[in-house]
Amino acid sequence: MCGIVGYIGKKPVQQLLLNGLKRLEYRGYDSAGIVTLDVTGKPTLLRAKGKVVELEAKVREHRTRDSVGIGHTRWATHGAPSKRNAHPHNAGDLYLVHNGIIENYLELKNTLSKRGYDFKSDTDSEVLTALIDSLYQKNHDLLEAVSGALQLVVGAYGIGVVSDKNPDELVVARKGSPLIVGVGEGEVFVASDASALLGHTDRVIYLHDGEIGLCTRDGVQLYDSEAHAVESQIETLELDLEAIQKKGYKHFLLKEIYEQPESLRSTLSGRVHTDTMTAKLGGINMTNEELRAVKNVMVIGCGTAYYAGLMAGYIAEQFLDGVTINSYIASELRYRSFTVPDNTIALIVSQSGETADTLACLQELKRRGVKCLGVVNVVGSTIAREVDGGVYVHVGAEISVASTKAFTSQVAAIVIFALMMASAKGVNPKELSQYITELDQLPSEIEKVIEKSVGDVKKVAKKYASYEHALYVGRDALFPIALEGALKLKEVSYIHAEGYAAGELKHGPIALIDDRFFEVCYLQDNWLYEKTQSNLIEMNARGAHVIAITDTDRRVAAETVIRLSTKLTLLTPLVFNVVSQLLAYYMAVAKGNDVDQPRNLAKSVTVE
Ligand code: AGP
Repeated sequence: MCGIVGYIGKKPVQQLLLNGLKRLEYRGYDSAGIVTLDVTGKPTLLRAKGKVVELEAKVREHRTRDSVGIGHTRWATHGAPSKRNAHPHNAGDLYLVHNGIIENYLELKNTLSKRGYDFKSDTDSEVLTALIDSLYQKNHDLLEAVSGALQLVVGAYGIGVVSDKNPDELVVARKGSPLIVGVGEGEVFVASDASALLGHTDRVIYLHDGEIGLCTRDGVQLYDSEAHAVESQIETLELDLEAIQKKGYKHFLLKEIYEQPESLRSTLSGRVHTDTMTAKLGGINMTNEELRAVKNVMVIGCGTAYYAGLMAGYIAEQFLDGVTINSYIASELRYRSFTVPDNTIALIVSQSGETADTLACLQELKRRGVKCLGVVNVVGSTIAREVDGGVYVHVGAEISVASTKAFTSQVAAIVIFALMMASAKGVNPKELSQYITELDQLPSEIEKVIEKSVGDVKKVAKKYASYEHALYVGRDALFPIALEGALKLKEVSYIHAEGYAAGELKHGPIALIDDRFFEVCYLQDNWLYEKTQSNLIEMNARGAHVIAITDTDRRVAAETVIRLSTKLTLLTPLVFNVVSQLLAYYMAVAKGNDVDQPRNLAKSVTVE
């Protein structure tokens, strides 16, 4: 959700914090703030509603030479976006930035109010600041105060805290919301996302849940929740600066759509072998015997990650006999009273590896003894560290809030895992080879489709961008593509869009069709072509404005036809999906929206 940055060292900290916040702005961007301390501890607290650029204007008017501070970009949970609710929050001698939700904040607020604290904001974060300060006033030991306060807190947090009584310390702590410490020479950096550390240091420490870090100019010492010192492991950051730059594209979203051939190649690299017609993932940590024994696969995720699981399930069940594959929306599953049959494994799908609902399902399934495998993009993320094994999809930093390249690679990774299971179960290699061939062809097929269709898509986007509503329909593996296509459109264009199984039209949605709607119909030249064509005709009969996306060269009766030519037959839905991504992008551009940072959204939903 929100973005946290912090620094203690020798450099002027204000610009360093602002630059870090700009890198994290995609994580939350309805308000921002920084606080810095001079050598005596004198604080300069600057906050602004809106994007970091608003805060930058304030910093220009209040330049300091300070070299310690913390900063925050906010995605509002408690309290509307405003300067008053922006972080850092102050209580007594302390200043705090916070990601997460303090669930017992009202009870704490009442207690603290009785002890004389008055609250200026509507946030749980300000209450946490006062709680820590109430303990800090005992003996001005920041580590002890943070440790004591966090034992009274129920909820999730990633925090940075500084005190104007001791400008030579910066304390961080995490539980359920990521924090990374970057260790430099005589300086320490803190961030909620590795991208803010790029260019400063590649020596990083990923905090684990319950850990507290005391950062000084000499380095960082980690402690457990009882303030006992613990060992820390310095890792090397794999991300590079180039990965988080637009490289000439107008938006990250367009860059990441165009990057898919390359990012998919990196997902497939070393995992799909057409010479031996084998597909293999390292890191699954399962023997062939264990793979053979699997009878049920639960695929869990949120949003696009959920749709990726759904899509991969449609493909996998085509060759994985005797295995039941079900996909679950994490925020639903975590509160259902579900049973887990024997011989079940779970695939935990998450680009960020920090989504709270998905993480909660992982923790519940592990509690029940279910083997959980991750399908994750962000290296070192919480989910990646808590699963029993799994794969990184290696698509590089996905900065745009709308997920695109991660989706394609998540589907591919899950299909590869299913191929491994099928091979272990003795499925005829000949049957599997066609999937391996198509996985290998997929990057260049996506490249071709982007090149050939982008011109048409731009025109179609302009033509339909003024519509209020959209209905996306598809059958079989194109049903999850309809869901994902509708989500992309909603997210970035703000046009209301629904994805539906095409066969469901006559069971209700067809009543919606009128001139306020356009429809996207995925018409694949396969065994369901005629069925889907009937749905198209049903819609036309009601005056629908249908955009047919199709790989057939037959005549298609639709108001608009976007034709794709591809040699694929089994993985065709994934190239259809790229057209939907482009359509959503160009409609958002046509509407003048903030394409990479759509309103009300954040890249990683680390709160439930
Ligand atoms: C996708 O475009 C959305 N931004 C959102 O649905 C996202 O897929 C979802 O929040 C899951 O995120 P994750 O993959 O990082 O867990």
